[in-house]
Amino acid sequence: MEVVVVDSDQIDGATRLALRTLWDRAFGDRFSDDDADHAYGGVHVLAREDDRVLGHASAVPRRIRFGDRPWLTVGYVEAVATDPERQREGIGRRTMERLQEEICSRWPVALLSTGRATGFYELLGWERWRGLSYTQAATGVVPDDEHGGLMILRQDPSAVPDLSTSVTCEDRPGDAW
Ligand SMILES: CC(C)(COP(=O)(O)OP(=O)(O)OC[C@H]1O[C@@H](n2cnc3c(N)ncnc32)[C@H](O)[C@@H]1OP(=O)(O)O)[C@@H](O)C(=O)NCCC(=O)NCCS
Repeated sequence: MEVVVVDSDQIDGATRLALRTLWDRAFGDRFSDDDADHAYGGVHVLAREDDRVLGHASAVPRRIRFGDRPWLTVGYVEAVATDPERQREGIGRRTMERLQEEICSRWPVALLSTGRATGFYELLGWERWRGLSYTQAATGVVPDDEHGGLMILRQDPSAVPDLSTSVTCEDRPGDAW
Protein backbone atom coordinates (compact mmCIF):
# COMPACT_ATOMS: atom_id res chain seq x y z
CA MET A 1 0.00 0.00 0.00
CA GLU A 2 1.22 3.51 -0.81
CA VAL A 3 0.20 6.74 0.89
CA VAL A 4 0.25 9.76 -1.44
CA VAL A 5 -0.41 13.48 -1.03
CA VAL A 6 -2.23 15.35 -3.81
CA ASP A 7 -3.82 18.76 -4.15
CA SER A 8 -7.48 18.83 -5.21
CA ASP A 9 -6.68 20.27 -8.65
CA GLN A 10 -4.45 17.27 -9.39
CA ILE A 11 -7.21 14.70 -8.78
CA ASP A 12 -8.46 13.25 -12.07
CA GLY A 13 -12.01 12.14 -12.91
CA ALA A 14 -11.35 8.44 -12.33
CA THR A 15 -9.94 9.10 -8.87
CA ARG A 16 -12.93 11.35 -8.05
CA LEU A 17 -15.25 8.48 -8.93
CA ALA A 18 -13.19 6.03 -6.87
CA LEU A 19 -13.32 8.42 -3.92
CA ARG A 20 -17.09 8.84 -4.12
CA THR A 21 -17.43 5.04 -4.14
CA LEU A 22 -15.18 4.80 -1.08
CA TRP A 23 -17.18 7.47 0.80
CA ASP A 24 -20.52 5.88 -0.08
CA ARG A 25 -19.26 2.49 1.09
CA ALA A 26 -17.77 3.85 4.33
CA PHE A 27 -20.51 6.34 5.30
CA GLY A 28 -23.57 4.83 3.59
CA ASP A 29 -26.60 7.14 3.49
CA ARG A 30 -24.88 9.66 5.73
CA PHE A 31 -22.75 10.96 2.82
CA SER A 32 -24.24 13.66 0.54
CA ASP A 33 -23.15 15.48 -2.63
CA ASP A 34 -22.41 18.51 -0.44
CA ASP A 35 -20.17 16.36 1.77
CA ALA A 36 -18.28 15.32 -1.37
CA ASP A 37 -17.91 18.95 -2.47
CA HIS A 38 -16.61 19.89 0.97
CA ALA A 39 -13.72 17.44 0.57
CA TYR A 40 -12.20 19.44 -2.31
CA GLY A 41 -10.32 22.73 -2.35
CA GLY A 42 -7.24 21.75 -0.36
CA VAL A 43 -4.93 18.80 0.15
CA HIS A 44 -5.75 15.07 0.10
CA VAL A 45 -4.00 11.99 1.40
CA LEU A 46 -4.87 8.78 -0.42
CA ALA A 47 -4.01 5.23 0.68
CA ARG A 48 -3.80 3.18 -2.52
CA GLU A 49 -3.17 -0.45 -3.31
CA ASP A 50 -2.88 -1.46 -6.96
CA ASP A 51 -5.63 0.63 -8.59
CA ARG A 52 -7.90 0.79 -5.52
CA VAL A 53 -8.31 3.67 -3.10
CA LEU A 54 -8.51 2.14 0.39
CA GLY A 55 -8.32 5.29 2.49
CA HIS A 56 -8.79 9.04 2.24
CA ALA A 57 -8.58 12.21 4.30
CA SER A 58 -8.45 15.82 3.14
CA ALA A 59 -8.04 19.25 4.67
CA VAL A 60 -9.36 22.49 3.22
CA PRO A 61 -8.83 26.09 4.37
CA ARG A 62 -11.74 27.66 6.26
CA ARG A 63 -12.14 30.92 8.13
CA ILE A 64 -13.06 30.32 11.77
CA ARG A 65 -13.65 32.72 14.64
CA PHE A 66 -12.62 31.64 18.14
CA GLY A 67 -14.45 33.69 20.77
CA ASP A 68 -14.24 37.36 19.77
CA ARG A 69 -10.74 37.08 18.29
CA PRO A 70 -10.11 37.98 14.61
CA TRP A 71 -11.12 35.38 12.02
CA LEU A 72 -8.37 32.79 11.53
CA THR A 73 -7.77 30.47 8.55
CA VAL A 74 -7.53 26.89 9.79
CA GLY A 75 -7.37 23.47 8.16
CA TYR A 76 -10.75 21.76 8.16
CA VAL A 77 -10.60 17.97 7.84
CA GLU A 78 -13.17 16.29 5.62
CA ALA A 79 -14.26 12.90 4.28
CA VAL A 80 -12.02 10.66 6.37
CA ALA A 81 -12.76 7.09 5.36
CA THR A 82 -11.27 3.61 5.13
CA ASP A 83 -12.76 0.90 2.93
CA PRO A 84 -15.07 -1.14 5.22
CA GLU A 85 -13.31 -4.37 4.22
CA ARG A 86 -9.97 -2.95 5.36
CA GLN A 87 -10.85 -1.10 8.58
CA ARG A 88 -8.92 -1.66 11.82
CA GLU A 89 -5.70 -2.40 9.92
CA GLY A 90 -4.06 0.96 10.60
CA ILE A 91 -4.94 2.55 7.23
CA GLY A 92 -6.92 5.40 8.80
CA ARG A 93 -4.12 6.16 11.24
CA ARG A 94 -1.45 6.22 8.49
CA THR A 95 -3.65 8.41 6.29
CA MET A 96 -4.39 10.90 9.08
CA GLU A 97 -0.78 11.00 10.31
CA ARG A 98 0.36 11.98 6.81
CA LEU A 99 -2.44 14.56 6.52
CA GLN A 100 -1.48 16.02 9.90
CA GLU A 101 2.07 16.59 8.59
CA GLU A 102 0.55 18.61 5.74
CA ILE A 103 -1.71 20.48 8.15
CA CYS A 104 1.26 21.42 10.36
CA SER A 105 3.08 22.95 7.38
CA ARG A 106 0.03 25.00 6.31
CA TRP A 107 -2.18 26.02 9.27
CA PRO A 108 -1.72 26.76 13.00
CA VAL A 109 -4.71 24.61 13.99
CA ALA A 110 -7.17 22.21 12.40
CA LEU A 111 -10.80 21.41 13.14
CA LEU A 112 -13.20 18.62 12.25
CA SER A 113 -16.68 17.45 13.10
CA THR A 114 -17.29 13.80 13.87
CA GLY A 115 -20.24 11.81 15.11
CA ARG A 116 -18.78 8.38 15.70
CA ALA A 117 -15.00 8.50 15.51
CA THR A 118 -14.01 10.70 18.46
CA GLY A 119 -11.82 7.95 19.96
CA PHE A 120 -10.01 7.43 16.65
CA TYR A 121 -9.04 11.12 16.52
CA GLU A 122 -8.12 11.33 20.21
CA LEU A 123 -5.49 8.64 19.58
CA LEU A 124 -4.06 10.98 16.91
CA GLY A 125 -3.76 13.98 19.26
CA TRP A 126 -7.09 15.71 18.63
CA GLU A 127 -9.00 17.33 21.52
CA ARG A 128 -12.74 17.71 21.99
CA TRP A 129 -14.10 21.22 21.60
CA ARG A 130 -15.93 22.13 24.80
CA GLY A 131 -17.60 25.43 23.86
CA LEU A 132 -20.69 26.32 21.87
CA SER A 133 -20.57 26.47 18.09
CA TYR A 134 -22.20 28.96 15.73
CA THR A 135 -22.57 29.65 12.03
CA GLN A 136 -22.11 33.05 10.43
CA ALA A 137 -25.10 33.11 8.06
CA ALA A 138 -26.40 35.91 5.82
CA THR A 139 -28.96 36.73 8.51
CA GLY A 140 -26.40 36.91 11.30
CA VAL A 141 -24.72 34.51 13.71
CA VAL A 142 -26.89 31.49 14.53
CA PRO A 143 -26.33 28.69 17.05
CA ASP A 144 -25.42 25.40 15.41
CA ASP A 145 -26.17 22.22 17.28
CA GLU A 146 -26.48 19.89 14.30
CA HIS A 147 -22.98 18.52 14.13
CA GLY A 148 -21.82 15.61 16.25
CA GLY A 149 -18.65 16.56 18.00
CA LEU A 150 -16.21 19.28 17.07
CA MET A 151 -12.55 18.49 17.58
CA ILE A 152 -9.37 20.57 17.33
CA LEU A 153 -5.72 19.76 16.60
CA ARG A 154 -3.31 22.35 17.99
CA GLN A 155 0.40 22.48 17.11
CA ASP A 156 0.82 25.29 19.58
CA PRO A 157 -1.89 25.57 22.26
CA SER A 158 -1.35 29.34 22.49
CA ALA A 159 -2.90 29.68 19.00
CA VAL A 160 -6.26 28.73 20.57
CA PRO A 161 -5.74 28.57 24.35
CA ASP A 162 -9.35 28.15 25.48
CA LEU A 163 -11.32 25.16 24.18
CA SER A 164 -14.47 26.21 26.03
CA THR A 165 -14.97 29.52 24.22
CA SER A 166 -17.43 29.92 21.35
CA VAL A 167 -16.42 28.97 17.82
CA THR A 168 -18.00 30.29 14.61
CA CYS A 169 -17.69 29.12 11.01
CA GLU A 170 -18.88 30.69 7.77
CA ASP A 171 -22.00 29.14 6.29
CA ARG A 172 -21.81 26.89 3.22
CA PRO A 173 -24.19 24.58 1.33
CA GLY A 174 -24.91 21.37 3.26
CA ASP A 175 -23.64 20.95 6.81
CA ALA A 176 -21.98 24.16 7.96
CA TRP A 177 -19.65 22.24 10.30
C1 LIG B 1 -13.02 6.08 11.33
C2 LIG B 1 -12.24 5.27 10.30
C3 LIG B 1 -11.70 6.23 9.22
C4 LIG B 1 -11.06 4.57 10.99
O1 LIG B 1 -10.27 3.97 10.00
P1 LIG B 1 -9.43 2.62 10.27
O2 LIG B 1 -8.53 2.42 9.08
O3 LIG B 1 -10.33 1.52 10.64
O4 LIG B 1 -8.59 3.06 11.56
P2 LIG B 1 -7.23 2.39 12.12
O5 LIG B 1 -7.25 0.93 11.84
O6 LIG B 1 -6.07 3.15 11.57
O7 LIG B 1 -7.38 2.69 13.66
C5 LIG B 1 -6.46 3.48 14.39
C6 LIG B 1 -6.83 3.40 15.84
O8 LIG B 1 -8.12 4.01 16.05
C7 LIG B 1 -9.03 3.06 16.66
N1 LIG B 1 -10.32 3.27 16.03
C8 LIG B 1 -10.65 3.02 14.74
N2 LIG B 1 -11.92 3.39 14.51
C9 LIG B 1 -12.41 3.89 15.69
C10 LIG B 1 -13.65 4.45 16.08
N3 LIG B 1 -14.67 4.58 15.23
N4 LIG B 1 -13.77 4.86 17.37
C11 LIG B 1 -12.75 4.73 18.24
N5 LIG B 1 -11.52 4.23 17.91
C12 LIG B 1 -11.36 3.81 16.66
C13 LIG B 1 -8.44 1.70 16.33
O9 LIG B 1 -8.79 0.75 17.30
C14 LIG B 1 -6.96 1.96 16.33
O10 LIG B 1 -6.46 1.95 17.67
P3 LIG B 1 -5.10 1.20 18.02
O11 LIG B 1 -4.04 1.83 17.18
O12 LIG B 1 -4.94 1.41 19.48
O13 LIG B 1 -5.35 -0.23 17.63
C15 LIG B 1 -13.13 4.17 9.67
O14 LIG B 1 -13.71 3.40 10.70
C16 LIG B 1 -14.25 4.68 8.76
O15 LIG B 1 -14.04 4.88 7.56
N6 LIG B 1 -15.46 4.86 9.33
C17 LIG B 1 -16.65 5.28 8.56
C18 LIG B 1 -16.53 6.72 8.12
C19 LIG B 1 -16.32 7.66 9.29
O16 LIG B 1 -17.07 7.63 10.28
N7 LIG B 1 -15.26 8.52 9.16
C20 LIG B 1 -14.95 9.52 10.17
C21 LIG B 1 -15.81 10.67 9.95
S1 LIG B 1 -15.36 12.10 10.83
